[in-house]
Formats: sequence, structure tokens, C-alpha cells
Amino acid sequence: MKNVLDSLEKRRAEAHLGGGQARIDAQHARGKLTARERIELLLDHGSFEEFDMFVQHRAVDFGMDKAPKTPGDGVVTGWGTVNGRTVYVFAKDFTVFGGSLSETHAQKIIKIQDMALRNRAPIIGLFDAGGARIQEGVAALGGYAEIFQRNVLASGVIPQISVIMGPCAGGDVYSPAMTDFIFMVRDTSYMFVTGPDVVKTVTNETVTAEELGGASVHAVKSSVADGAYDNDVETLLQMRRLIDFLPSSNRDEVPEWPTFDDSARLDKSLDTLIPDNPNKPYDIKELIRKVADEGDFFEIQESHARNIVTGFGRMEGRTVGFVANQPMVLAGVLDSDSSRKAARFVRFCDAFGIPIVTFVDVPGFLPGTAQEYGGLIKHGAKLLFAYAEATVPKVTLITRKAFGGAYDVMASKHLRGDVNYAWPTAQIAVMGAKGAVEIIFRADIKDVDKIAARTKEYEDRFLSPFAAAERGYIDEVIAPNATRARISRALAMLRHKELENPWKKHDNIPL
Ligand code: HXC
Repeated sequence: MKNVLDSLEKRRAEAHLGGGQARIDAQHARGKLTARERIELLLDHGSFEEFDMFVQHRAVDFGMDKAPKTPGDGVVTGWGTVNGRTVYVFAKDFTVFGGSLSETHAQKIIKIQDMALRNRAPIIGLFDAGGARIQEGVAALGGYAEIFQRNVLASGVIPQISVIMGPCAGGDVYSPAMTDFIFMVRDTSYMFVTGPDVVKTVTNETVTAEELGGASVHAVKSSVADGAYDNDVETLLQMRRLIDFLPSSNRDEVPEWPTFDDSARLDKSLDTLIPDNPNKPYDIKELIRKVADEGDFFEIQESHARNIVTGFGRMEGRTVGFVANQPMVLAGVLDSDSSRKAARFVRFCDAFGIPIVTFVDVPGFLPGTAQEYGGLIKHGAKLLFAYAEATVPKVTLITRKAFGGAYDVMASKHLRGDVNYAWPTAQIAVMGAKGAVEIIFRADIKDVDKIAARTKEYEDRFLSPFAAAERGYIDEVIAPNATRARISRALAMLRHKELENPWKKHDNIPL
């Protein structure tokens, strides 16, 4: 028996070495951890159960019959726990054929995807790979498509998270693109369909890998990624934090964690958050942090479309999604990017039963040819659509401006907002006073006194929450200092909300 156990240990030790010590050293020299080291950090200590450690490739073409048969074949797969909750994980091993995807490598990932879906638990993929195993041809392409198909079936059923921790090229990009969230490691990861060499050949552009698909591109400009962190360790610890916010599946409740933050806590500083001058900005994240339990806020797409803020927090220990216009950036205006960003977040929350808290301070949609040519109508409609179809509890607070169509869009009462609050500083109107008066009283535009009087009249009548409150569009005008207490109570009241949309195969959101 001892011999058998020794030989098992020997085989395991061989598998743990992946592509060998030299390649592991090269991985470390690039500031990257190995696949197994990453899994160790991501999961609770000692909780990882590995599958298919001894799987080997079966390729014979292009010298593969003579190539080393590395156990594991370039991907480490299995399951474990994050703070006691089950997650499935696969991590590409760059030390084995550059983490490239073979037929058997794909089968290992597929097995884990099927288990995650069947057992209703999140799946996390750690990417560090060179795309399809070139020597395997169509077998690798088929493997990718099998993975893509499973990504789609699992979408909206279990959370799927992709973490890009090295190269992610060719066929490797599309699976992450169909998952719920993509996070990247700054400076050591990049994602593109075709690399700098192909780009040079086809378009004659000269770009570096970072310029083409680094975190500085995808977490800021393209919005392919939902965030980026400085190194492997920080990224993996942040993924543990994210998992703590997410339900295990669309049939599970949001996780509930102990909190020491009194849900009735008043915050006097919020009474002076809104500046006296209505055109002066303030930081809406201050409000989010002062409302959320212990100020804990996990932001999604922090560096993209910063005129809207999206992310997860907790109220009474339970996850909520915050969506908030940010007056500090472009006055919090809605444009194509911010509409798309928030729409995707709202849809994630709705798919997974996460209540949505919306803070509104929006001067309207951004005018101009750049926006109209870029499809503002369609992108703005995405957010409108997302809020309108959402059946999760929706609590909205208008802090200051809610002008024009943007008032309607931002989880208004008319889009089945459950509880709609306003601060006394709210201004709910078709547009600001100056613009309104210049249109309605165009003939008197040169009569300064008359225009001033009309402006004052408009401000008094419309630039307050009361015209909307008179119609019941605002349920109550609340004191800023009581915001946390009021929202907590509203969410507690909505805990067992039941609302169903009419049966349909699926909707047709303006993509
Ligand atoms: C087989 C591969 C490989 C691949 C890397 N390797 N990519 N083996 N298939 N796709 C191997 C290398 O031969 C090398 O083996 C080892 O992995 C490390 O690679 P290096 O090139 O030395 O590393 P580095 O310089 O860091 O460059 C990493 C890289 C580069 C940028 C990822 O390897 C690269 O460009 N690879 C090819 C990318 C690509 O074109 N993939 C196919 C895309 S087509 P040795 O033994 O020398 O150490 C595709 C279509 C699918 O994916 C579409 C489905 C929808």
C-alpha cells in the first residue's frame, strides 16, 4: 500500500509542477503567480478540491505525439469555498503550452461549467493563455464553442466571473465576454481578438499589447472590463470580496452577513451635502458610503463612464445594487456610455434578485452630434428598458436635479419604482429654469426684468419636489440625515415583493 501511495504522491507532485520549474520561475519573474498559487489565494485555505489533475492531451499532429504529455493539460479545475460558500474555479496554467486550449483542456472546463450550473454555484475563470492550441486545429475551436454555449445557458442562472491575469487572446476572449464580470490585473494582463502583429499586418497600425488591450484600455475606454487591480494578490482578494456580495444562483437569496451598523443611524452631515449653488458638484459616492452598511461599497466599472456610479453595498447585512448619477463628472448627465453601463448593472441585479437603490441627480441626456451619431437613443433606451423590466425591489431617492426624460429613466414611479423619495432640495422638472423660460417666453427675451420674474416663478413652482409629490410620483420628501434609516425600512418592507412580467420567450432589449 505504501508504494501505491508513494507513487500517487509522485504523480501529484509532477502534476503540480505543470510545465516545470523553469517555466514557473519565468512566471514569477513576470510578477505573476501560477495557476495553483492563484487558486490558493482565491479560495478558503485548504478548501480546494481538484478534478482531472491527470488529464493529458491526445494530439498527434505537428509533433504533438513527441511533445511532453503534461498532466493537467494547461488548466487547473475544481471547486472550493469562499468564506464557506461553494464556488467552482478553473485557472489557465501558462506554464503548459502557454495555457492554450486543447480538446482535453476544454473538456475539463466544460465539466466544471456543467457542475456549477447543475449545483447552482458561481464559477470563476482565471485566464492567462495564448488562445487555441494551434496544433489541434478544429478540435480546439469546437472546445471553445462548447464552453461558449455553456456560458450562455448559465447566464442569469449562476454568477460567472472572469479574471484576466496574463495574455487572453483569440478564442479565449469570448468566454469572458459572455460572463457577468471581467476583472484585469494592471500591467500584466491584456485581452484582444488579434494581437499587435496581426494588427500591424492588416491595418498597418503599430501598437503595444498594453495599448491594444491592457487594463488601461478595457477598464477605462472599451468597458470590456469591470475593474482592474494592481497585482495578482489584490485582484484575487477583491474577487473574494465580490463573491461575498453575490447570491449563489438566481433561485438563492442574497447572502446575509452580520453587521454592526445600526440601520436607523442618522447622518447629520448629509443635511449639508447639497451645495447652495445648484450648479456646484458634490460627490455622490459620499452619499452611497454614508447609506451602506459600514460604508462598504464594491464599485463596478469605476473608471468607465464615471458620470454614473454602479456597485454593490449592503443594507441590514443584505446585498443591494446602488446606481447613482455622479454630479462630479459631466454634471451627472446621461450619455451613451453611462446608460449602457448602468443598464447592464441593473439587469444583473434584476436577474439575481438584488434590490436596486437609485440616487438621482441628473440634468438630462447629453446633447450633440457625437452622442446622436453614436446611438444615444438606443443606448439611453437600454437603461430605460432595464429599469422598466426589473421586478426586484426598487427604491429611488432624488437628491437634486431630475430633469426631462432622465427623470423618467432613473427608476421613476412610472417605471414601477416601489418607494420613491426626494430630498427637499430635489428639482423635478422638464428642464432647468433658464432653458425653460427662454423657450416659453422667447418673445420677451430682451426684457431682463420680465425674464427674471418668470424664471423666479418657474423655480418656485417646479424646482422643488412638491409638484411631483402632489401627484404621488414622490411618496415622501425626507430629511437627508434620515436617508439610511428610510431606505433600510423601505427595503425591509419590500423583502417579500412579488411581481411578474407577462410570459415571453425573451424580451428584445435594444442591443
Ligand atoms: C500552442 C502555444 C500557444 C498556442 C503559446 N504557446 N500560445 N502553444 N498554441 N496558441 C506556447 C509557446 O509555443 C511557448 O512554448 C509557450 O506557450 C509560451 O509562449 P511564448 O510565446 O514563449 O510566451 P510569450 O512570449 O509570453 O507570449 C505569449 C503569447 C504568445 C502572446 C500568448 O505565445 C502568442 O502570441 N501565442 C499565440 C497566440 C495566438 O495567436 N493564439 C491562437 C489564436 S486563434 P515553448 O515550448 O516554446 O515554451 C484562436 C482562434 C479560436 O484562438 C477562435 C474561437 C472562437
